[in-house]
Amino acid sequence: MPYAHITGWGISVPEPVLTNDDIAKMVDTNDEWIRERTGIRERHIAREDQFPSTLGVEACIKALQVANLAPTEIDLIICTSSSPEYIWPATASLIQDQIGATKAGAFDIQAACTGFIFATNMAAQAIRSGSIKNALVVGTETLSRFVNWKDRGTCILFGDGAGAFVLQASDKPGGILSAVMHSDGSGADSLILPAGAARYPATEATVHEGKHFVQMDGKAVFRFATRVMGQATREALELAGLSTADVDRIIPHQANFRIIETAAKYLKMPMDKFVVNVDRYGNTSTASIPIATVEALQKGLVKNGDKVVLVGFGAGLSWGALVAEWTGPIPSKKHVYPEQYRLFARLRSFIRRALRYIEGLFSRREL
Ligand SMILES: CC(C)(COP(=O)(O)OP(=O)(O)OC[C@H]1O[C@@H](n2cnc3c(N)ncnc32)[C@H](O)[C@@H]1OP(=O)(O)O)[C@@H](O)C(=O)NCCC(=O)NCCS
Repeated sequence: MPYAHITGWGISVPEPVLTNDDIAKMVDTNDEWIRERTGIRERHIAREDQFPSTLGVEACIKALQVANLAPTEIDLIICTSSSPEYIWPATASLIQDQIGATKAGAFDIQAACTGFIFATNMAAQAIRSGSIKNALVVGTETLSRFVNWKDRGTCILFGDGAGAFVLQASDKPGGILSAVMHSDGSGADSLILPAGAARYPATEATVHEGKHFVQMDGKAVFRFATRVMGQATREALELAGLSTADVDRIIPHQANFRIIETAAKYLKMPMDKFVVNVDRYGNTSTASIPIATVEALQKGLVKNGDKVVLVGFGAGLSWGALVAEWTGPIPSKKHVYPEQYRLFARLRSFIRRALRYIEGLFSRREL
């Protein structure tokens, strides 16, 4: 049975920064309150012309560059987003088209902020089963579009960004060692974006009532998060036959510094084992774990051979963790340039659209 290694990683974060002081000009809050309760100082907000696919494509190309892998080699793309481009088609399909992943099947999974854990596990399972060799997992958000900028209870928390992993099959032991996935739909209303889908299709009333914005019971989510982070970490470690003493680094979902601190206490692990960057990004939902991972790699906090735990939680309610032995890119003598495929991808997409249009002109009405 092949092992599933994480061989590439990339992020894309929009440039515009929104500080706590900026938010204090919009709602009745202040920098001190936000920092004390959440640890957040600032977050990045997508420009009007940036969408989940825009950020996702950038992150995927960077991940492919690190993996030294052509987009045409990708068998599967799983995108996960709490703020997808559309209900459908899947954001994964848009990314597949734009990066030129010509042979990839592409779909989205929705597990809110836990999405990246679930998606990475699904991709790893597909590789372990032998059915595919190369997968791309991407978490991408422009959540700022779904935040009520008049609600001080939620608008202080979220930010935009994207992160991607390449997963590849290898006979060499390592890579994803174990994973756990959990859900509890009885807590569905604790964190919810109610309208715009089948239950509350968009109407004037839903817009008026603010049902197209994130709604949250902050205290309930806080209690849930502090409970499940440590539990999921322990479960995943046990499945991998490891203990907390074996862990080199924990990369948690970046929602709130206090939640991470509480998890560290529960696990009896020092805070310096935890990667924390919530102060500069806020909660970027499905993108937060890969963004934190890439920063940790850049700072040398994660090295080849390290045992790393990724752990997340979110709406659903959902939560999960996975344990990986970090191995890095698969060595290869050839050098590929994934970014060059974008040009061909654009041309290919244009030709396919044109052919579809021409086909429509010539097809008989009765067909
Ligand atoms: C949202 C959160 C920071 C609120 O912190 P809290 O300590 O629970 O604060 P509360 O909601 O109890 O509010 C305490 C007081 O601060 C006020 N307050 C709320 N937001 C405020 C803000 N942005 N600025 C200033 N005051 C604020 C409340 O109105 C309340 O005032 P009151 O005591 O006069 O009624 C916290 O609950 C949290 O982080 N929850 C988890 C959220 C999360 O991670 N969601 C994403 C999961 S993926």
